[in-house]
Amino acid sequence: GTGTAGTGTGTGFTAVAPNTEDALVIPEGYEQSVVIRWGDAVLEGAPAFDFDAQTAAAAAQQFGFNCDFAGLLPIEGQADKFLLVVSHEYTTEPMMFRGYDSAAPTREQFEIALAGHGLSVVEVHGKSDSGELKPAFGKYNRRLTATSEFEVKGPAAGSDLLRTTADPTGTKVLGTLNNCAGGVTPWGTVLSGEENFNQYFANAETVTDPAGAARLKRYGIPTGASERKWETFDPRFDVAAEPNEVNRFGYIVELNPWDATSVPVKHTSLGRFKHEAATIYVAGDGSVIAYSGDDERFDYMYKFVSTKKVQPGMGAASMRHNMTILDEGTLYVAKLTGDHADEIDGSGKVPDGGFTGKGQWIPLLETGADGKGKSLVDGMSAEEVAVFTRLAGDKVGATKMDRPEDFEANPKTGKVYVALTNNTNRGKDDYPRADEANPRNLNKNGQVLEIADDHTGTDFTWTLLLVCGDPAAADTYFGGFDKSKVSPISCPDNLAFDPHGNLWVSTDGNALKSNDGLFSVILDGPDRGETKQFLTVPRGAETCGPIVTEKHVIVCVQHPGESDDATVDKPLSNWPDGGSAQPRPSVAVVWKKNGGRIGV
Ligand code: FEO
Ligand code: CA
Ligand code: CA
Ligand code: CA
Repeated sequence: GTGTAGTGTGTGFTAVAPNTEDALVIPEGYEQSVVIRWGDAVLEGAPAFDFDAQTAAAAAQQFGFNCDFAGLLPIEGQADKFLLVVSHEYTTEPMMFRGYDSAAPTREQFEIALAGHGLSVVEVHGKSDSGELKPAFGKYNRRLTATSEFEVKGPAAGSDLLRTTADPTGTKVLGTLNNCAGGVTPWGTVLSGEENFNQYFANAETVTDPAGAARLKRYGIPTGASERKWETFDPRFDVAAEPNEVNRFGYIVELNPWDATSVPVKHTSLGRFKHEAATIYVAGDGSVIAYSGDDERFDYMYKFVSTKKVQPGMGAASMRHNMTILDEGTLYVAKLTGDHADEIDGSGKVPDGGFTGKGQWIPLLETGADGKGKSLVDGMSAEEVAVFTRLAGDKVGATKMDRPEDFEANPKTGKVYVALTNNTNRGKDDYPRADEANPRNLNKNGQVLEIADDHTGTDFTWTLLLVCGDPAAADTYFGGFDKSKVSPISCPDNLAFDPHGNLWVSTDGNALKSNDGLFSVILDGPDRGETKQFLTVPRGAETCGPIVTEKHVIVCVQHPGESDDATVDKPLSNWPDGGSAQPRPSVAVVWKKNGGRIGV
């Protein structure tokens, strides 16, 4: 493999070569363990996991399926003790249940799947001389599922668009769905993106008024039956019976993990789309900026700028104030222009000076101190902008991107990074063709965008940091670094920063015939663009939730063994339990032997 020694502080490890092992492969000199697996107890007294005797009651007390986001929050005054907050994006029933019949799931399977979604809060304990982390029971441990109660805040709260038979107030939603990536706020809460919520709903064709039908189509709500057939057990998943239930998903959820009785919030001020995540940057004046991508081919990038300023500290008064910061402010969508637009031919050929350009944040929705909205989009009400945000982006001519996934600001420089994972429809048939920020047609490998943002303002400049793929291919670019010395990288998804200011990128869907992995990328100095693979995840898995601290690298190994035709009888992976065990989505931690600093 590409075993270049690291040249930047924090990247001093030997790169892991591309591979298809059924293992978590890590660099020499590092150790690993599994922190928590699907089915492990989150609540004290939870039954031991038994693959062949699953119940919904047990699942509601156990770690959910398909972990994606991970947040590690230090417990004040307790060395090496943390809250680990993890999202459970979705369930894969053919791999969860022996003999699963997708045409006729059982009620118990439906209820286990509801409980397998949502979020887990679990205390984890470490050691002073190693990075190993083990779960523990404590007063914060909690499971949120697809039936937990959430409060709706912001311009759409209480609107006609959110009222249902079960909730005529339009303010109380049961459950969160498809929680993908997320962010930890400076005030100690966790934000989680409700991403592909469309897949849980059925029968969109029964709505025939043109405006309603167009909205459902723009959000990809299925016609006919849904994949999991939940509508056959609960009419709220049937658009024909409850046309507004679907409008109650697709938001940024905020959870206060420090109070196990707190009711989490759905923030309609941040708009409704397939939120990959939301991540926070605090500007010099204390304004809070929440960045969020809409993970769909040809969809948009957004930011929300708060009106209130963050109040420092984690005391009760600060927490009360800061928990309302996302209730008041302005939502924007991004429009990008290229500096070398004439030279872009869809081949990925790099212009002199790189792919660069300017951008503008176009305001869509202002939310006032009273929680009421003001629309800044012609022909749409504030409630409509909050609930049908994609249509607002369409109207103002936002730039259609190659699937915006994670967005992350560098805490050292303030520059903002976006993973654009891929877009194989770019340039195909009548789809939009390549532009400078999305410079390849039939884009299989994705790119990473770097934005120099006027955080509270509306102008920015941008450049592409990485145009991913095989470094030997002409259509790739690694920040100007020598391409013979980098690791191949494909389909960037989640982003994280280490304490040295290096960017870490995890991948989902590697199109280069290797398992997915986690990579370090140097951003500044002569080695800008040096990209090295730190680990690879087992077969069929996606690498999620990366966290890089002084002494831990934490990843969520999502959907190990998943493939188009994987079932319980032919698992593609037996990780982490080995032998002939069924694969289990799990959180893993990697540390340097003897607890040394990562990458140093
Ligand atoms: Fe759930 Fe966009 O990845
Ligand atoms: Ca995923
Ligand atoms: Ca993702
Ligand atoms: Ca993804």
